Amino acid sequence: MDRIRIVGGQALNGVIPISGAKNAALPLMIASLLTDATLTLDNVPRLADGAQLLRILGNHGVDYRIDGKRPGDHPTAGQTVHLDARRIVDTTAPYELVSRMRASFWVVAPILARMGEAKVSLPGGCAIGTRPVDLLIMALERLGAEIEIEAGYVIARAPRGLRGGEIDFPKVTVGGTHTALMAASLAHGHTLIKNAAREPEVVDLADCLIKMGAKIKGAGTSEIEVEGVSRLGGARHAVLPDRIETGTYAMCVAMAGGDVLLQGARPDLLQNALDMIALSGASVAVTPEGVRVARKGGAIAPVNVTTEPFPGFPTDLQAQFMALMTRADGESRIRETIFENRFMHVQELARFGARIRLDNDVAIVTGVKTLKGAPVMATDLRASACLVIAALAAEGETMVNRVYHLDRGFEHLEQKLAGCGAIVERLASPG
Ligand code: UD1
Repeated sequence: MDRIRIVGGQALNGVIPISGAKNAALPLMIASLLTDATLTLDNVPRLADGAQLLRILGNHGVDYRIDGKRPGDHPTAGQTVHLDARRIVDTTAPYELVSRMRASFWVVAPILARMGEAKVSLPGGCAIGTRPVDLLIMALERLGAEIEIEAGYVIARAPRGLRGGEIDFPKVTVGGTHTALMAASLAHGHTLIKNAAREPEVVDLADCLIKMGAKIKGAGTSEIEVEGVSRLGGARHAVLPDRIETGTYAMCVAMAGGDVLLQGARPDLLQNALDMIALSGASVAVTPEGVRVARKGGAIAPVNVTTEPFPGFPTDLQAQFMALMTRADGESRIRETIFENRFMHVQELARFGARIRLDNDVAIVTGVKTLKGAPVMATDLRASACLVIAALAAEGETMVNRVYHLDRGFEHLEQKLAGCGAIVERLASPG
């Protein structure tokens, strides 16, 4: 298994291009199942999760083609993927394929809506709490689906098609909102989604569905209305920039010092996180090309954060922000409200000499003057990024093991950091 070796202590200076958002690309690719025409997606990041989803879609009968290199392409430019679900040949998403990535469960909605039945294995993914799918199932039931759970599979049926209804989520769920949007787009009649997720990735999916012919109003607010249509067509859509990658590199700079342009970043997608980074003492400036983050000496100030659904501080940046706070000049409190058990990085950060106490859903971080490089283990996707941030500021060498988690969500991470002066290299596993 590959490892990443980082020698800390180098400031970061230069330009980091921001990739397309993994969390938007996945539901957009899944939306290709809703139509028998071609869906073309631009700016798709090259990630292990995307490749795995292509395998899953292929199993349902989706043909896909990825454009090759074009003249003048930047090496980190996103890919263009053409997806063609002319015939869905298999309505089952088997355990072997779905168990590795939670988002793959979302195929249940378009397959059910288009074919009247779907059988999808209960999902796997990052080990961050129980992460049930009860609300996704509830949404499909509200649209008239009959659901059975048998031998680890969700079997959903709507032989006469789905019909519009009211879905009132008791809790904000991104996956639930994606599922409801896709299913309602092909249901008969009107659907009202209450307490919908307002995340930018939901808006991106809705924008693409609208291009495909869906009738959706209110995406980006907590009430979304969908008027079902009998057929969706093809479309071309560019994936929005990754706000989690943006925030992660911004925190790398805030931690290591230096001056970096995050090219193509959209500050409106992560305003809250950028505000917290600025409070920590880095300068954050919006430029026509993206977001420029700099820290030239000076202490890192302690900042308290609480994770919340959008537009609050994202749970997917919680681990990274905690890494930054390990070197703050004082104590900070980080509260996680979205996922239980999303503090597995705490014990790995302790290996660098970080001082963190846990009190239920709050981590109390007492900043230290120096972190020391150490061998560490990536436990989940975002936690892995926090180890990289700590390593950039630690004295000496850090070896991050199990980097496949990073490859699931960060495209060209070593190249992007090394391009700004970090000492970082990937060591291929022996044999
Ligand atoms: C998505 C993101 C993930 C991010 C999360 C929250 C993708 C591929 N993943 O995950 O990176 O951390 O949003 O912003 O986009 N819940 C239930 N029952 C359900 C569904 C969810 O109780 O049926 C709970 C979850 O356990 C969690 C909360 O609702 O506590 C939010 O989860 P949700 O927004 O659904 O996360 P995902 O869509 O899985």
